Amino acid sequence: MTTIAPGRPAHVIDPAEVPGSLVPTGAKPIVRASSIEKFFGDNHVLRGCSMTVYPRETITILGRSGSGKSTFLRCLNYLEAPSAGAVDIDGVEVDAAPMRRRARAERERIRRLRLSATMVFQEFNLFPHLSVIGNLIEAPVHVKGMSKAAASELGERYLAKVGLSDKRDEYPNRLSGGQRQRVAIARALTMEPKVLLFDEPTSALDPSLVGEVLKVMEELAHEGRTMIVVTHEMQFAREAADRVYYIDQGQFVEIGPPEQVIEHPRDERTRSFLSRFLGSAHVHQGAGGAPVVHMPERMVESHHHEDPGEEHPHAEDAHVTHADGHHGHAHDAEGDHPHP
Ligand SMILES: Nc1ncnc2c1ncn2[C@@H]1O[C@H](COP(=O)(O)OP(=O)(O)OP(=O)(O)O)[C@@H](O)[C@H]1O
Ligand SMILES: [Mg+2]
Repeated sequence: MTTIAPGRPAHVIDPAEVPGSLVPTGAKPIVRASSIEKFFGDNHVLRGCSMTVYPRETITILGRSGSGKSTFLRCLNYLEAPSAGAVDIDGVEVDAAPMRRRARAERERIRRLRLSATMVFQEFNLFPHLSVIGNLIEAPVHVKGMSKAAASELGERYLAKVGLSDKRDEYPNRLSGGQRQRVAIARALTMEPKVLLFDEPTSALDPSLVGEVLKVMEELAHEGRTMIVVTHEMQFAREAADRVYYIDQGQFVEIGPPEQVIEHPRDERTRSFLSRFLGSAHVHQGAGGAPVVHMPERMVESHHHEDPGEEHPHAEDAHVTHADGHHGHAHDAEGDHPHP
């Protein structure tokens, strides 16, 4: 049984955590996750995950199913309590305290942390009995104590931003999945969080509806919202992300700009993962022997819990050229996801 030292670990900024292009000069990090560990019983799911995010950055987290992506995101705003480590968002710091009861002051810090970092889930989670505007004003009124009039104004502003002003009085079950997810994004925005967390926001959607949601997210990224996005949308990750974190078995094994992590991955595990997306992309040997991945316009892993070989038969044929020059089959390293 692993024992974990209590207390706050020092935050170490990885050399690869270079501030993105929209970050104001000299800005301090807005998110510091330090050595986050998470156990579910004996299952050691997160193994020392640290992340530094500067204001106005978009971060994407990539990794295969079960690697700990959702757990990490949930630990950032204490939807899940880390077993060890510390989270600091906009100066509100909470360290893991598995052994002691949390004092009232600390519970208040967790509440503030949750207000600073709002999550958009895969499954929208709209209230079915409330209209769109009802969904949008619910949290500002009940959590922030805003007046209904002020909350409605705010809600309408963000509804316009996601292009759904005409659906103001509609009910969620009369919206498409893409529209529902755009409402969910508007709802998150009404809380005016410091950081938006997205957990696979498009993976429950019919492929034809993915684009409208990604478009909203790209706009948010370009206008300088701070976002941390778990996604399998490589095109989005490549175009919108300042930095990509590849997580493998609870550890960030590769961190860097998308041009590195997605197009010229250095870590064998990142390469192996990316090879699942190669059904319609191709890889050739670049300068210095590193593989160069050419991505198609958009890549959707339509059901991430299934073996990608089933979804993308071409992946079986995709060859990855390793840095050392030998060729391997894309599906060779897929053995960690046996079918039930
Ligand atoms: N509430 C929980 N209780 C027990 N185990 C959990 C819980 N949540 C997650 N796990 C386990 O933690 C590990 C990581 O799960 P997590 O959901 O973070 O993976 P993920 O990378 O988000 O995967 P996916 O791509 O399928 O969403 C898995 O082994 C999972 O079974
Ligand atoms: Mg997940």
